[in-house]
Amino acid sequence: MKRFKIGVVGAGYVGLTTAICFSELGHHVICYDKDTEKIKKLKEGKIPIYEPGLEDILKKTYQKNIFFTDKPEEIYANSEVIFICVGTPEMPDGSADLSYIEACSIELTSYLKEYKLIVEKSTVPVRTAEWIERTIKLYNPHADFDVASNPEFLKEGSGIKDFFQPDRIVLGVSSERAKKILLEIYNEKEFPYPKIITDVKTAELIKHASNSFLALKISYINMVANFCEKVGVDVDVVAEGMGLDRRIGREFLKAGIGWGGSCFPKDVKAFIKMAEENHEDFSILKEAYKINEKRIDHFIEKVKKTLWVIKGKRLAIWGLSFKPNTDDIRESPAIKIIPRLLNAGAYLKLYDPEAMENTKKIIPPNVNVNYADSIEESVKESHAILILTDWDEFKNANLPTLKKYMITPIIIDGRNIYDPKKVRELGFLYVPTGKP
Ligand SMILES: NC(=O)c1ccc[n+]([C@@H]2O[C@H](COP(=O)([O-])OP(=O)(O)OC[C@H]3O[C@@H](n4cnc5c(N)ncnc54)[C@H](O)[C@@H]3O)[C@@H](O)[C@H]2O)c1
Repeated sequence: MKRFKIGVVGAGYVGLTTAICFSELGHHVICYDKDTEKIKKLKEGKIPIYEPGLEDILKKTYQKNIFFTDKPEEIYANSEVIFICVGTPEMPDGSADLSYIEACSIELTSYLKEYKLIVEKSTVPVRTAEWIERTIKLYNPHADFDVASNPEFLKEGSGIKDFFQPDRIVLGVSSERAKKILLEIYNEKEFPYPKIITDVKTAELIKHASNSFLALKISYINMVANFCEKVGVDVDVVAEGMGLDRRIGREFLKAGIGWGGSCFPKDVKAFIKMAEENHEDFSILKEAYKINEKRIDHFIEKVKKTLWVIKGKRLAIWGLSFKPNTDDIRESPAIKIIPRLLNAGAYLKLYDPEAMENTKKIIPPNVNVNYADSIEESVKESHAILILTDWDEFKNANLPTLKKYMITPIIIDGRNIYDPKKVRELGFLYVPTGKP
């Protein structure tokens, strides 16, 4: 099997997973990031993010066939295929900020001495590849290159599995040469999964349409959850009954405190904006977004209804990351809930297995906020536990022991991780989401 010289631009969640997994397959990989601190850590063999399994692979491949650099010439001059994995965050008007994509498109122009394939992996609005192509040609009219789209669908926390066993691989290409290279990289032997080979703009659109649909699905079940609370029905049973219908499916029908993370919020907004620019009204997505924003109010209301007075209460906050198995707190519901509780006068003890360091940067410890070293420490002298992320550590917690440390045995569960009957039998006042 042909092995390539692969360059990966951006050493974030997507870039690092892509680079390290390609190195595991034996490709020669150079990963570039302009963040010198990140590269310094990586050069010491340390992974600057928490993504299970990445460090183990890196131990095998580092300095054998994967290298890290903060120097553009080292990646661009030495790669045949360049995967762009830089961030595409949200602009104030909701559109995607493409300045990082533009910056690396310009930066690589002077290194296009022989043919290179440039592959967008970042989530970008439809037609971004056309802009990359135009930019490169403006700076280097004689450059020999193709721009392809290979949107990334990995989920933080299971990035390696999603890389090696994806549900599908989407390849948007504009030439036979680009198609051949991508099909050699994503060959049937190593990637025996469905492949959608299409034009570039269709590939770009598949990513935004997928993420927005998933967000919509979660908002739908959250809307149903609110109704379940009103009429005394268990949303998990409703979701199971719906999800067993193969046309609906069980995934992403978990009621909770809403979707967050670095993708759904910005991607839904960017898709709405793209539609607006094309005189289409994606009102269904606007509603999904609104429902999601209201999850925070709904949860705070629930805390008030349960505790009566929030001021002066000591609360154990379980979970800071936007989902389990990651240290990513970008747009995490927990990070929106914490200031609301502090404004209401609560004292908080925060605990998360992986996301505390990131959270300390934006919510430093102070007289009202403490960080606990363990789940036990978090509940000592507390009036209630608030579950904001569904980490396994919380699911497996020894509740009878923890109860002894608490002032009042109350659990307000924003993620429905326990069986209400069992927890209530232990003597807790248990307040789940979307259940009687
Ligand atoms: N995080 C996810 O779960 C996920 C999943 C699928 C797709 N995506 C998409 O992938 C892209 C990257 O996401 P991420 O979460 O990995 O972002 P990230 O913020 O974790 O990492 C992006 C990295 O790019 C670097 N960078 C920015 N401009 C650069 C430049 N000009 N040259 C070199 N490096 C540069 C930054 O320093 C940063 O380290 C986004 O478009 C995102 O929407 C993310």
